[in-house]
This record gives sequence, C-alpha cells and structure tokens, in this order.
Amino acid sequence: MSNKVTKAIFPVAGLGTRFLPATKSVPKEIMTLVDRPLIQYAIDEAREAGIEEFIFVTSRGKSALEDYFDNSPALEAELRKKGKTDLLDILGQTDMDSGAIAYIRQHQALGLGHAVWCARRLIGDEPFAVLLPDDVIAADRSCLRQMIEAYENTGGNMVATMAVAPNKISSYGVLDVEEDHGSVVRARGMVEKPDADKAPSNLAVIGRYILRPSVMSHLETIKAGSGGEIQLTDAIAKDTENGEGTFGYRFRGQRFDCGSKSGFLQATVAFGLAREELQDDLRQFLYDVMHLDRAGE
Ligand code: UTP
Repeated sequence: MSNKVTKAIFPVAGLGTRFLPATKSVPKEIMTLVDRPLIQYAIDEAREAGIEEFIFVTSRGKSALEDYFDNSPALEAELRKKGKTDLLDILGQTDMDSGAIAYIRQHQALGLGHAVWCARRLIGDEPFAVLLPDDVIAADRSCLRQMIEAYENTGGNMVATMAVAPNKISSYGVLDVEEDHGSVVRARGMVEKPDADKAPSNLAVIGRYILRPSVMSHLETIKAGSGGEIQLTDAIAKDTENGEGTFGYRFRGQRFDCGSKSGFLQATVAFGLAREELQDDLRQFLYDVMHLDRAGE
C-alpha cells in the first residue's frame, strides 16, 4: 500500500437545503465568493497539496459542476479573437488534465459517509483525502497541505479540527482527546453532533480528512447514525479502535462555513477585502453601513 496521498474525494451530492430556493437549480458548490465558485477554492487547495486525482461524488442536478471543469471552445475562441489574454488566463484555472477528474453518482442522499463510500472502487487500497467544498479555508499554506505534512509523521487517520464555542458544538463531529501535542492531538474516538453537555471536548472536526482505506471497509458495514444518515465520523471512530489511530490537526488559517448563510456572507466580505481592486470601496461601504446602523439606534 502506498502511503502517499494523491487522491481526493469531493462529496457534492447533498441537497443544499439551507440555500433554497437558490439551490433548486444551482449546485451549492457553484455559488460564488467574489468571482470564483466554492468548488474552485477546494480544487486549488487540493492541487497545492499535491493531489493528482479528483473524485466528485455528485447527484442529479449537478451537471453545472461537470461543465465548469470542461473546456469551453466557443468562449475561448471568442476571447482569443478579441485578444483578451487576461481573461483566458483566468479561465485556465478551471483546466483539469484529461482523466484527472472522475464523477460518481450518489443516487440517494444517505449521508456524507455513504457519499464517500460511493467512491470506494476508485480509491482501492490507498490513503485518500476528503474535502467538503462548503468549508472554505483561507490560509497561507493550504490546509490540506499542512495536514499531509503532519500526516507523514503520524500515519493513521487525520481530521482538521478547531475549537468552537459550547453553543455551537452540537452541530459538529467532536474529538475525544487522548493526548494533546499542540498542533496535533491524538483522539481516542469521536462523536457526531453530541449534546453540548456531553461533548467530549471543544474540538470540532471540520471538512478536511486524510483517511486510511480501512475506513471504506467500515463504511460498508455501518448503519445509519445521527440524523438517519450514514456518518463518516462513525466509520473513523470505528477505525480508531482497531487501526493506527486518529489524529486531529489544528490547522493555521481561517475557516468559513459556507454551507450556512451567515458563514457564506462572512466569507464574501473577507475574500472581497482581500482583493486589492475591491478593498477600498468595500471597506468604505462597510464603514458607512455600520455608521448608519449606529445612527439609527
Ligand atoms: P451538509 O450536511 O452540509 O448537507 O453536507 P447539504 O445537503 O450539503 O446541505 P444542507 O444541510 O441541506 O443545507 C456536508 C457535505 O456532504 C455532502 C454535501 O454535498 C456537503 O459537501 N453530502 C451530504 C453528500 O455528498 N451526500 C449526502 O448524502 C449528504
């Protein structure tokens, strides 16, 4: 078994109900932060981490995602004719090598664990990464790259983790910490969406994982858990009991929960402020809004 992580699964088959009615016809992952869809941020992060094979678990109604990573000969010809090389360069960000990207359908939204399991035949006997595109992470060095570097020392499974407030903890998978070594913690287990008073720690699991192939075997036998869905957390917890252990990685970077409206709005502001050509106008606008708000109080 090779220990190098070269394959990544992007589960994008969820219904995206928190963004209805938009997600009735637009996949959540195509919604844009400034001018790039969420999926582009996840792909760039994976590329920076050395991922070579990109596996999308999709569902009905997500064909816009496949088109996004396809060539667009008519548009490209038009831009070339007009000498718009800057725009052609921007389009180039969506280029993927032929054969580097694969699409698998999850026929029923039975949960994240089930979505990952749908990709089992493409993963085989290798460790693999999972990236949830609605967690967008702004970082100097991509979060997955940081994790892969840490994983080279730890082995086992690795999940990205961050401290969250007690009133939010019940929305997450939570680590039961055995040893805390700072950026890396060894977990004795993990619990999906615990009640706040039963949470084993304040360390939530967020949407980046490096997993051993044995997690796929556990997904095969796992029954629906919290919320009636097949939970990835349950399969990792099972692997933690028998395998080489599971580690949480406290990444350096800022994570935005773009699966929620509030997180999406915050990310839009943060990524807008990070863009030189937008920041002056946006900062002024935010100042005015805050100012007027106060004046009305
Ligand atoms: P979420 O829990 O955010 O669900 O899934 P969702 O359907 O995307 O959004 P809401 O809650 O209805 O608004 C977390 C990730 O797991 C994927 C989603 O696409 C998302 O990337 N997922 C979830 C699947 O691929 N299949 C599933 O059955 C469930």
